[in-house]
Amino acid sequence: MIIFLIGYMGSGKSTVGYELAKLINYDFTDMDTLIEQQNNCSIVEIFENKGEEKFREIEHNTLKGLLTKNNIVISTGGGTPCFFNNLELMQNAGVTIYIKMSVDKLAERLSNARQKRPLIKDMSETDLHSFIQSNLEKREPYYLQAQYKVKAGNLNVNELATFIKKEIGLQ
Ligand code: S3P
Repeated sequence: MIIFLIGYMGSGKSTVGYELAKLINYDFTDMDTLIEQQNNCSIVEIFENKGEEKFREIEHNTLKGLLTKNNIVISTGGGTPCFFNNLELMQNAGVTIYIKMSVDKLAERLSNARQKRPLIKDMSETDLHSFIQSNLEKREPYYLQAQYKVKAGNLNVNELATFIKKEIGLQ
């Protein structure tokens, strides 16, 4: 089985994914990290040098390259399910889990993690909050199509991984 974690930037997809994979003895891949390794440059550099459109193509191709894997947890990028037929590809290849978090919490968590994220890198604190709010509104229709929706709210990483494991019916 492939388990795809989807959700907004800063919702903790990578840390939870890593923890979940350990818990259920699956491999783990973080798509952004894989893209950086395969292209030998950072996500920020890809956006700066090639533009978002090219990044989305690269992201789409990276996803397609992962679809034949098995027993793996894949943490996607925040935009992954919202472009091309990526969501459909994920739904057909495995199980999708939306890691849901409030705008306030996302803004709080992202305020110190802007640097690595080209979409919000140069944004002020106030702009960040309203950007997340309107961007999440556009993206949630995709995220909400996930087979499982998990509120990340007040759980720590371990609790969340354990909760997801139970939710998807793994012993
Ligand atoms: C993006 C999210 C990032 C990364 C890129 C674009 C987005 O991943 O793929 O900066 O469009 O939301 P994270 O969700 O891991 O930050």
